[in-house]
Amino acid sequence: MDMLALRLSFYLAVCMLEVVHRSDTCMPKGGCPIMITPSRIVVQYGSPFHADCSSCVNGSCKETKWETPTGSKETLNNSNNGINKTRWNVDHATEWDIKPMCYEDTNADCCTVLAFTLYKPPDNVSISFVNHTGPLLEGHQYNLQCRVQNVRPIQNLAVTFYKGDTILDSVQSRSSENTTVTETFTSFSFNSSRGDDGVQYWCEAKLNLGQQGPPPVTMSERLTTTVYFKPKTGQGSTLDPISITVGEPFQLNCTAHSNPRPAYSWTGPDNTTVGNGSDFSVQSAGFEHKGLYVCAARNSQGSATVKFNVDVGVDWLPIIAGVSALLLVICAVVGVFVYYTYYKKTKMGQYQVRLLGVAK
Ligand SMILES: *[C@@H]1O[C@H](CO)[C@@H](O)[C@H](O)[C@H]1NC(C)=O
Ligand SMILES: *[C@@H]1O[C@H](CO)[C@@H](O)[C@H](O)[C@H]1NC(C)=O
Ligand SMILES: *[C@@H]1O[C@H](CO)[C@@H](O)[C@H](O)[C@H]1NC(C)=O
Ligand SMILES: *[C@@H]1O[C@H](CO)[C@@H](O)[C@H](O)[C@H]1NC(C)=O
Ligand SMILES: *[C@@H]1O[C@H](CO)[C@@H](O)[C@H](O)[C@H]1NC(C)=O
Ligand SMILES: *[C@@H]1O[C@H](CO)[C@@H](O)[C@H](O)[C@H]1NC(C)=O
Ligand SMILES: *[C@@H]1O[C@H](CO)[C@@H](O)[C@H](O)[C@H]1NC(C)=O
Ligand SMILES: *[C@@H]1O[C@H](CO)[C@@H](O)[C@H](O)[C@H]1NC(C)=O
Ligand SMILES: *[C@@H]1O[C@H](CO)[C@@H](O)[C@H](O)[C@H]1NC(C)=O
Ligand SMILES: *[C@@H]1O[C@H](CO)[C@@H](O)[C@H](O)[C@H]1NC(C)=O
Repeated sequence: MDMLALRLSFYLAVCMLEVVHRSDTCMPKGGCPIMITPSRIVVQYGSPFHADCSSCVNGSCKETKWETPTGSKETLNNSNNGINKTRWNVDHATEWDIKPMCYEDTNADCCTVLAFTLYKPPDNVSISFVNHTGPLLEGHQYNLQCRVQNVRPIQNLAVTFYKGDTILDSVQSRSSENTTVTETFTSFSFNSSRGDDGVQYWCEAKLNLGQQGPPPVTMSERLTTTVYFKPKTGQGSTLDPISITVGEPFQLNCTAHSNPRPAYSWTGPDNTTVGNGSDFSVQSAGFEHKGLYVCAARNSQGSATVKFNVDVGVDWLPIIAGVSALLLVICAVVGVFVYYTYYKKTKMGQYQVRLLGVAK
């Protein structure tokens, strides 16, 4: 009994030694000619791949085989590929924590570990605002969040937030999870401005796995945002009088930029409501149109007012010209009349003298 136990424990020890030996001490010594092609494998979960191993010196080759050192050594799916190569062939890569090694059959000290990375691109990447739906409000702060579903290895994942075509923020995962995970990344907070109305936000998840293997990038949908902002008019108020000539048309423009569209209200002289459009116009100015006009453009976010000081006056220039012309005409007429009358009078006097002379 004792003897058997001793033996068993001895075999166990040897066995464990062997396992430890194979798993942790595969350090290719000088002169170990094992060659693996390709030297590094980066493969997507579920995809097929293969690697070839050979150990040849000057055309003289040794038998090799693929094993994993995890727990009890497991022989991988070895097959001969050509005379001197052993192929590890996998139809569907599904084992995550595998450390594939190739050994010389007759000399376990001669071995090489294959750099092997299995990855899983995200099933879905989606973008949204943190704790917010609907239109943004101008001047408020917001954070974007990017949800990356079922990805691995998360340590190699970087998320980039975009605003249109420009990069807004980049975030690297700090997770140490070594399973397939879903993680939500948050951007820094930013102020929304009226210029952002209609801008598209999106995010992109990228597994950085070096040059081997195509770097898989998964993009989210584009989130088109609406920004609500208060009205801003094209011009400020000026109380310099706007001179309008009586009888002429005039127009006051209060067009304001806002989202949602503003509602306008105009009050005219005597504080009366005179209109509700973006502009106010009069076809023929009268003296009753003289005074202060106030336009208010309003929406849910606020309002803007513009004041116009309208002065209706008479244009004196044509009147002066007309009066001058009239005076000139009158003068001329009067002059002619006076002259004519005087001339006629003189002639008639002569006749009278003559007549008188004749009569005498
Ligand atoms: C094998 O090649 C090495 C150089 O790479 C050479 O030194 C050695 O002599 C060769 N051995 C045989 C048996 O050809
Ligand atoms: C395999 O090894 C033999 C010698 O053992 C050599 O003659 C032959 O060229 C090798 N074949 C390949 C494909 O490397
Ligand atoms: C093992 O390799 C052979 C040939 O290389 C292949 O046909 C087979 O599907 C592989 N088996 C698995 C489980 O990958
Ligand atoms: C990704 O997720 C978003 C939000 O959860 C969903 O609207 C969208 O349909 C999903 N896309 C795919 C391809 O599953
Ligand atoms: C979002 O709202 C939840 C609860 O409604 C809260 O616990 C969380 O802290 C909020 N997140 C941010 C970034 O404000
Ligand atoms: C993965 O994580 C588990 C616990 O979370 C740990 O026991 C295991 O050793 C880790 N595996 C690797 C390969 O890091
Ligand atoms: C965002 O707005 C806040 C106040 O609303 C202001 O204090 C802050 O400086 C603004 N930040 C940027 C980057 O404009
Ligand atoms: C009013 O001004 C805006 C610019 O501020 C201009 O686009 C618009 O055409 C003007 N409206 C009229 C009726 O002149
Ligand atoms: C104009 O009328 C409104 C009410 O219709 C009133 O609230 C406002 O004080 C008045 N403004 C002036 C300058 O009279
Ligand atoms: C603007 O005024 C006209 C008549 O003056 C009226 O028919 C119309 O309903 C008003 N529009 C609004 C939005 O108040």
